[in-house]
Amino acid sequence: MTDDFLTRSSPEQGILSRSQQAEDREPEILSLRPRMLGEYIGQREVVEALQIAIEAAKKRKEPLEHILFHGPPGLGKTTLAHIIANEMGGNLTVTSGPALEKGGDLLGILTRLEEGDVFFVDEIHRTPRTVEEFLYPAMEDFAVDFIFDKGVHARSHRYRLKRFVLVGATTRVGLLSAPLRDRFGIFRSLDFYGEKDLVEITLRSADLLEVNIDPAAASELARRSRGTPRIVNRLLKRVRDYAQVRGDGSIQAATVQAALILEGVDERGLTDLDRRYLKTIIDFYGGGPVGIEAIAATLQEETDTLVDVVEPYLLKIGFLVRTSSGRKAADSACRHLGVPVQGKIF
Ligand code: ADE
Repeated sequence: MTDDFLTRSSPEQGILSRSQQAEDREPEILSLRPRMLGEYIGQREVVEALQIAIEAAKKRKEPLEHILFHGPPGLGKTTLAHIIANEMGGNLTVTSGPALEKGGDLLGILTRLEEGDVFFVDEIHRTPRTVEEFLYPAMEDFAVDFIFDKGVHARSHRYRLKRFVLVGATTRVGLLSAPLRDRFGIFRSLDFYGEKDLVEITLRSADLLEVNIDPAAASELARRSRGTPRIVNRLLKRVRDYAQVRGDGSIQAATVQAALILEGVDERGLTDLDRRYLKTIIDFYGGGPVGIEAIAATLQEETDTLVDVVEPYLLKIGFLVRTSSGRKAADSACRHLGVPVQGKIF
């Protein structure tokens, strides 16, 4: 791993690194990530739009406009922020909305940014409102207003910032306030990856990890990875462990199947939590419709985890339907789980 791929260290290490998920920070997962746009597989329209924006900004010798990425976890929002910094030759500073507890946290970071640096805010929709208000002039005018003293003695001082690029990431664009949303010049949604792209990512990662994998095994892994590169890379490492301990180190389709049984990942890539979620709707609520709060309470899981992590893929593959009166399990979900299709008499 080279320096330009590292998040810049700083006294606010807590604020700056808390956002990253533990598995994101595993050195091997980091090293599997593409470093430049040319290496990026999938999300072609997003990549092309970024290529154009980056090239245009470089030609004009200007910083990029602020960029907002939206989409479920694991699809490349953080990776793209790293890539943008690499492509623009700037440093990257990483934080997350909930880590920015006070305006001062944000001011400390902003005042240290250099011209062309990239400031990545993950889960930007969870930034406290009081902190968010400092972002508006920072994004629009590259300035922050300090208030000294209080009451009749209050004085304001405008501090000029270097022209940085804010890259925001959110799983819930609907929760972003309109003033914040409107200050991004580029907005892109990331969708789940198709099987072909995930096979390509698997083969690239296997190559980097120096492990032999059959094309059929790569397809099997891709089909079971919920359309998500982060999952494909994590499962590849588990399958590699299995192959080394129970086999000769190389990976065939049967190795993937055997290793993923141990991981609790089924043929459609569903995890234990996915299956418990669907079974709750079916067994406790007659297949739905049922509200998310009731499902979360029965499962004893956070609503946010279900909405951000579990539901998007189930909606994507049509196992879950969202109606105005609540969530419903689709017939295809019942068939997959081997339970009678709801509301039908056999
Ligand atoms: N590793 C994780 N995501 C990737 C992507 N989109 N392209 C190439 N390698 C990846």
